[in-house]
Amino acid sequence: PVVLQKAAPVEADEEEVEDGKVKLTVFFGTQTGTAEGFAKALAEEIKARYEKAVVKVIDLDDYAAEDDQYQEKLKKETLAFFMLATYGDGEPTDNAARFYKWFTEGKDSDPWLQQLKYGVFGLGNRQYEHFNKIAKVVDEILSEQGAKRLVPCGLGDDDQCIEDDFAAWRELLWPELDQLLRDEDDTSTVATPYTAVIPEYRIVIQDSASGTFLEDNHLNVANGIASYDIHHPCRVNVAVQRELHKPESDRSCIHLEFDISGTGVIYETGDHVGIYAENCDETVEEAGSLLAQSLDLVFSIHTDKDDGTSAGGSLPPPFPGPCTLRTALARYADLLTPPRKAALVALAAHATEPGEAERLKFLSSPQGKDDYSKWVVGSQRSLLEVMAEFPSAKPPLGVFFAAVAPRLQPRYYSISSSPRFAPDRVHVTCALVNGPTPTGRIHKGVCSTWMKNAVPLERSRDCSGAPIFIRSSNFKLPADSSIPIIMVGPGTGLAPFRGFLQERLALKQEGSQLGPALLFFGCRNRRMDFIYEAELNNFVDEGAVSELIVAFSREGPQKEYVQHKLMEKAAEVWNLISLGGYLYVCGDAKGMARDVHRTLHTIVQGQEKVDSTKAEAIVKKLQMDGRYLRDVW
Ligand code: 2AM
Repeated sequence: PVVLQKAAPVEADEEEVEDGKVKLTVFFGTQTGTAEGFAKALAEEIKARYEKAVVKVIDLDDYAAEDDQYQEKLKKETLAFFMLATYGDGEPTDNAARFYKWFTEGKDSDPWLQQLKYGVFGLGNRQYEHFNKIAKVVDEILSEQGAKRLVPCGLGDDDQCIEDDFAAWRELLWPELDQLLRDEDDTSTVATPYTAVIPEYRIVIQDSASGTFLEDNHLNVANGIASYDIHHPCRVNVAVQRELHKPESDRSCIHLEFDISGTGVIYETGDHVGIYAENCDETVEEAGSLLAQSLDLVFSIHTDKDDGTSAGGSLPPPFPGPCTLRTALARYADLLTPPRKAALVALAAHATEPGEAERLKFLSSPQGKDDYSKWVVGSQRSLLEVMAEFPSAKPPLGVFFAAVAPRLQPRYYSISSSPRFAPDRVHVTCALVNGPTPTGRIHKGVCSTWMKNAVPLERSRDCSGAPIFIRSSNFKLPADSSIPIIMVGPGTGLAPFRGFLQERLALKQEGSQLGPALLFFGCRNRRMDFIYEAELNNFVDEGAVSELIVAFSREGPQKEYVQHKLMEKAAEVWNLISLGGYLYVCGDAKGMARDVHRTLHTIVQGQEKVDSTKAEAIVKKLQMDGRYLRDVW
């Protein structure tokens, strides 16, 4: 088996910088690649504007191999920028998690970053409770440790147009960098506007009749290695696939089991699985026709130019090839998300019809802000939908994969099994995303559609498979199984609790003492979407859960939600928590988890007979103690 080693950390600080030059570092914490793209774009623009600047772009995970190197390395930085995304429940991205943990764990030494000038730009979404938390916290600590803030922390909001927020933040930055990086006698370029070059891969078309190509060569599939991660997933088969909703339901929820036997993939109850799904045939065919290319075209992509020099700059790493255009579009291109402004700029550059080019340019310009926000974002126009409106814009493949279609990202799901119960399987519980957008298009979620169409091994030897990897989480049962737990998970928020209950049942069968466990589940109607009903009843019968409390939101005249049920049981719930119990919430962050959080606050106020501020402090303490855990999206 191949053992892949982690890339050696970039030894930026060991490098000597030439006389007269200034070293500058751009760090990024990225999950879906946006922060990384911004970091690279910022670096390119700084290089273009300031001859003096020697710029490095660094993945926070690669910065230091060991935690104790962070401080030593950071002490040598004099000018640095941080592009930091915030995820889920106010969490750092996976690649920034280790740095963030280290950086936020109080350092009691005197301010140690006085030599550093810095700027932070955050990527977040205002719809979430902890808007840009990671960026704000890092910005604050840098300042507390004596570093000089060059510009206010940028708060990018992906709910609106994050590219505009980033552009506005950069405008604040240039006057500051002019002072630091522009020679006094240099007055020439001040007024020269900077236009970003459109990145482009070099494409090599292969003769498909001759030569071999690896049609099954998925991005870094690494079966056989010691540990898998987002960059080295493991290709596994789908063993089981079935519908969880009852026939009366007009929606769909899929139960899927990946077969991990013999692969070395290991997981714990409460972890997440990342899945590299593929676009469905219909989407791929539409993309092929919009690009006016044959899907059977065999090609490879490269970051070097014809003359051997690198064109790498701001490009994401190329995907493995040669492969057919069909495979490339299915696996590597995000075709259904509304396009970013940078994509519109690239499309405009290749629109042969002048009217189309103008309109695309306008949509991506500051003047076209409102149109972009209404016509693209507000109407949820997919990239393909936009391309269909501008038929003369047919970018070459090198531009399409570099600047128009972002890389298709893995999708994460809370694992709905426990390895104690299913050591060879990873179970997923997934609601099908399939609904009309404002333009009347039926939006089909990439991964849920893939799962809906997946063919399991139990139905065909020619079954579906996908590259997957495990992402560990803090959403874990108490180490001592006699501690009481309360679980709140409506809809697919039930997923990790199914794993919890499998685990508790296994523990019980091994002779462990189980503490009380309440499960609050919510669905629309018993006859439609009461998923895993028989299993849940069995967990009650077997004593893995002491009480199953179900809120049916569309059975009676009034909506009944999990938080209403929680409120009805306020005294019992608070009593269990007061005994040292844990509270778990899983599901939708914007609606349900927010409402449950408010309900908890009300329960604390009522039960403890305290005012709102005191109640908030009690809830905060629970959270700090790791006894109020949330797995929300
Ligand atoms: P609804 O669709 O009838 O509004 C699983 O999706 C269940 O969660 C459904 O019964 C859904 O009800 C319910 N739900 C929707 N919004 C919620 C919220 N803010 N809090 C709690 N449950 C909610």
